Formats: sequence, C-alpha cells, structure tokens
Amino acid sequence: MDYASTLSKPAHAFMHLHSQNPTVTSPHDWLDPSLQLHVPLVDVDKVRCIIRNIVRDWAPEGQKERDQCYKPILDELDRLFPNRSKERPPCCLVPGAGLGRLALEISCLGFASQGNEFSYYMMICSSFILNHTEVAGEWTIYPWIHSNCNSLSDDDQLRPVSFPDIHPASAGITEGFSMCGGDFVEVYSDESQEASWDVVVTCFFLDTAHNIVEYIEIISKILKDGGVWINLGPLLYHFADTYGPEDEMSIELSLEDVKKIASNYGFELEKEKMIETTYTANPRAMMQVAQDQASVPFRQQRVGVPEIWPLDFGGQSVYNFMHLSKTAFSLMRTGSCNETRILEFLRMKDIIIIFRCFDVFPAKYSDCF
Ligand SMILES: C[S@@+](CC[C@H](N)C(=O)[O-])C[C@H]1O[C@@H](n2cnc3c(N)ncnc32)[C@H](O)[C@@H]1O
Repeated sequence: MDYASTLSKPAHAFMHLHSQNPTVTSPHDWLDPSLQLHVPLVDVDKVRCIIRNIVRDWAPEGQKERDQCYKPILDELDRLFPNRSKERPPCCLVPGAGLGRLALEISCLGFASQGNEFSYYMMICSSFILNHTEVAGEWTIYPWIHSNCNSLSDDDQLRPVSFPDIHPASAGITEGFSMCGGDFVEVYSDESQEASWDVVVTCFFLDTAHNIVEYIEIISKILKDGGVWINLGPLLYHFADTYGPEDEMSIELSLEDVKKIASNYGFELEKEKMIETTYTANPRAMMQVAQDQASVPFRQQRVGVPEIWPLDFGGQSVYNFMHLSKTAFSLMRTGSCNETRILEFLRMKDIIIIFRCFDVFPAKYSDCF
C-alpha cells in the first residue's frame, strides 16, 4: 500500500485547521475550490479518529478517561515492580500504543518503555506531539466540530481544546523510551524478541487481532520467565462481521476462553476486575457510551507451551485449527459444544476445510463422514 500518498492528504488537511497558512486569510477562503482536497472518506474518518485520540491521550479533557483506563494499569505496574532500579529499569512493551501517552506514563514510572503501533496516522501524530512540542498547551484543535449528535449547545460543539496537557520532553521519562512502528505480529515474532520483556501491557489492543490466540502466543514468547502481562480493554473484535469478498479471518473468543488459552500458554491469573470506561468519548456530549472492561494482570509461570488447546483434538497444535472458518472455530472452542452441530456445520459450509482438519479430529468423529 502506498502509505505516503494516502497520508499526505489527510495530514495536510488536518494541519490547515490550525496552521498559519499564508494563503488562507479568512474562513470564507475554505470555499475556494482550489483549496478543496479530494480526500477519500475512509481517510477523513481516520483523521477524525486521530483527533479524538488526541483528546483521550493529550488534552486536559481526556484526564478522566486516562484515569479510568491508564491509572489502573500504572497502579498495577507500581505494585508488581516495587524495587525498580534506575540503572536497570524493567522493560515494558505496549503493543497498539496509539498516540503514546500510556507508554510515556509507564516510562515516567521508571520502566524502559516501548510503544508499538502500526498505523501511520497514529505514528505521525504521536511523533509530532512527543518530538516537536515545545511547551504544554502549544496546539489547539476543535475536535468535536464534526460531531453533530448529542451536543448540549453550539458552544460545546465548537469549543477549542488545547494540547498537550504536559510537555512530554520534560515529563521525566526513563532512558530507553521508544516507539516502534510495525505490525505487532511481524515485529515481535522475531527470534530476537524471545524472553526480552519483563512486562507487556495491552490496553484496548487484544481485540484488534485477526487471531487473538496468535497475540497471546507472541506475548507469552516475548516475556521473560516470571514476566507479567497486564490487559485492559473490551473484546469488541475489530474484524468480527467483516464478511466481505476477502472474508478476513477473525477469531472471537469470550473472556472465559481468552483466560483458558492464556492459562494454556503458561499464564496464571493474578487479579481480575471489571472497570467502567469510555473510549475517545466527548465528555460534554449528552450521551456517553460506557463499557465494562476486564482488567487482567497475568503472571507467566514458564515459557514454553506444553499443551496449547483445552480440548483434546489429538494433541495437535492450535494452528491446525486456524484453517477453520471463524464460525467453525467458534463452535469448536468450548468443551460443551455439540459434536453433531459441528459436523453439520462443517458439512454445510466448510467442505474443503473438512479435509484440512480431518486428521486432527479424534477417530470417533471420522466415522460420521
Ligand atoms: C483501540 S486503539 C487503542 C490505543 C491505545 N492503546 C489506547 O488505549 O488509547 C488500538 C490501537 O492498536 C493499533 N493496532 C491494531 N492492530 C495492530 C497491530 N497488529 N500491530 C500494532 N498496532 C496495532 C491501532 O492502530 C490502534 O492505534
């Protein structure tokens, strides 16, 4: 994909909102057709999403949401790593770091923190804020100007928001703070990453997976023995219900099953609680959509995977099952599912897949075909 060209337009359009472009002298100049940019709607939507993320991560207005989502994680890190040394700080990875605020807060807490992010929109914006801000409150945006629903007043909708609320460079970061651009699966599957992190923090990230089991497997591999995984966020699987021509893979497990899979990868659940949060919500909107999020610190007992799958399908690796369609996978994922239903489903829809998974079925199933 040509990221450079898809990016230049929305980034350009966004900067126009508040830069001193000498060609724009009055608000009416925006009506000049030569200044109209033909930006695909999908990119416009991404820019709006980034603008809302600026509020979540870097505006005073986002403090309440940061307290809901980031503070419980920071508190756990503080509790779990009480004797942090400045000379050899524990290493913390934050996959899907968005605009980098959580990764920065973790760094300020005394960890060698690395954020990982694959969206160029997010990376460009976080680099702008982290590297190019000179004072707190330097920039102003109008983040809710596009939101026509649930406004209590026009003033609310048109209100300016300044950011960042802090000057990142003087926030007190620990040496080793970095942002790593790239797909989590590609970057951290590399052998060099094995057993190199003391803690992995996933915040609103797990459900971005096509294959959540793969995410968990990678987290288990890159953690040191005795390392900790802290997760907070919903299971609002991003690729659920994307039945397009490409029918992208999406494995949608319940929290119960996520915990079973994690335990099969050597994680022991230390603590769990439900937290009510919002995500990029407009704090002054008439309606706030709050979600319950599970916050789950896991401690890894051992590295290595003796038995991956909770069901006995002949001791095969979970990857044999990755060939199954998402629905077949969902049907098979719990021990309580009805064998006949699985087989009916496979007969109806997954004829080709039957042959792929046939040899991983216990012999008793093969009589049915
Ligand atoms: C819902 S946002 C959460 C951002 C941030 N953690 C927060 O709580 O505000 C999920 C983030 O994960 C990123 N992401 C999704 N899939 C990814 C992948 N495979 N590798 C790296 N980043 C990914 C998205 O670009 C997005 O920034």
